[in-house]
Amino acid sequence: MIRELLTEENREWVARARECAAKFVAPHAAEWDRTAEYPWSAIEGAKKYDLFRVWIPKEYGGAGGGVLNLCLVVEELSKACGGFGVLYAVNSLGSFPIILGGTDAQKEQWLPRIAAGEKLIAFGLSEKKSGSDAGSLSCRAVKQDDGSFVIDGEKKWNTNGNAADLYTVYASTAPDRGSRGISAFLVEKGHPGFRIGKKEDLMGIRCVPVHELHFESCRVSADQLLGAREGGGFANAMMTLDRARPAVAAQALGLAQGALDLAIHYTRERQQFGQSVSSFQGIQWMLADMATRIEAARQLVYEAARGVDSGVKGFSKYAAMCKVFATDVAMEVTTNAVQLFGGYGYCKDYPIEKFMRDAKITQIYEGTNQIQRLVIGRAITKEAAG
Ligand code: CAA
Repeated sequence: MIRELLTEENREWVARARECAAKFVAPHAAEWDRTAEYPWSAIEGAKKYDLFRVWIPKEYGGAGGGVLNLCLVVEELSKACGGFGVLYAVNSLGSFPIILGGTDAQKEQWLPRIAAGEKLIAFGLSEKKSGSDAGSLSCRAVKQDDGSFVIDGEKKWNTNGNAADLYTVYASTAPDRGSRGISAFLVEKGHPGFRIGKKEDLMGIRCVPVHELHFESCRVSADQLLGAREGGGFANAMMTLDRARPAVAAQALGLAQGALDLAIHYTRERQQFGQSVSSFQGIQWMLADMATRIEAARQLVYEAARGVDSGVKGFSKYAAMCKVFATDVAMEVTTNAVQLFGGYGYCKDYPIEKFMRDAKITQIYEGTNQIQRLVIGRAITKEAAG
């Protein structure tokens, strides 16, 4: 779907996110990148524009806007700052497990507060030795006689690590059952036995705090077990990632579009050989290819998101496809945009190099692009088998 065909509701979210990005994100993006400071002022901005409501169902205080409107918001925010785009989007990654698998009480307790932006939430699946092979995680939750659980282990690459208030944490309650023995828990910051650990020093998205999480004899009550159900955690994580990956693709899309906008502006202004650089055919063709690839990525992202919202059969394949394609396009486009700035592209006096650094991670997190290809490959061979 091209942008011209978006509905009134979609356009409203785009307009809101764009205004929020212009006021609260773009003016500070370079400073956040330099200082790695958490953008609390922009979180307040996003609250003011009600952006945390978009993906939360209406019955829990949200707008019921689904994944497509979430993607539209993430795209606009990421045009201004890829870091802010993901630290906003990761709240959807953290809350989809509750939306999909929480008990009524868990939904009522948390979703309205997430929708209002009162509580930030993060997602704890990966570990030092368990990344792509998520089912091999070693964090353990041992059930006690009174029904509570004691969690021991560590989580790695936790986006929004020390900024979140609530964490969806995956741990095994039955190690002998492999991925079927994984369960999910809701743990609040400050809970005894739960400690935020090392902060990573990142190449890009530098305003995003990515931390290790440590659980040391961390006792949680039975009502913190997601869905009051042991063993459904892995499927819950996979279903969550199916819904969250289009938002990473949208982050990539925003980064690519933002870089192209800057490259067009720069090459129009920059004079060489007595004319603007953008008037050379070689440059026009580069710009044209960048714009065309971005448009192809956009349509795949929007359609995959619509597929997820409509619950079409096999939407994990589309979610994986849009993540692979849009993030590869973002890396290619942002690299070419740096090239178009020449020597100025390689230094921090200009904002363009940040786009390239921010884009790289989109090919890695929420499932590397190699894992996305595995998901797609498995899906198409299964379809062929009938
Ligand atoms: N929906 C529902 N269930 C699913 C599913 C899906 N999309 N995919 C798999 N499952 C179920 C299967 O049906 C199967 O169920 P049964 O045991 O009942 O048969 C079970 O899960 C195991 O499935 P597989 O055998 O296919 O699992 P696998 O071990 O081969 O792994 C994988 C599949 C796709 C590689 C998966 O491990 C994966 O997605 N890995 C990447 C993990 C990832 O994206 N991590 C990123 C974390 S977030 C992050 O980056 C940090 C952050 O904060 C942003």
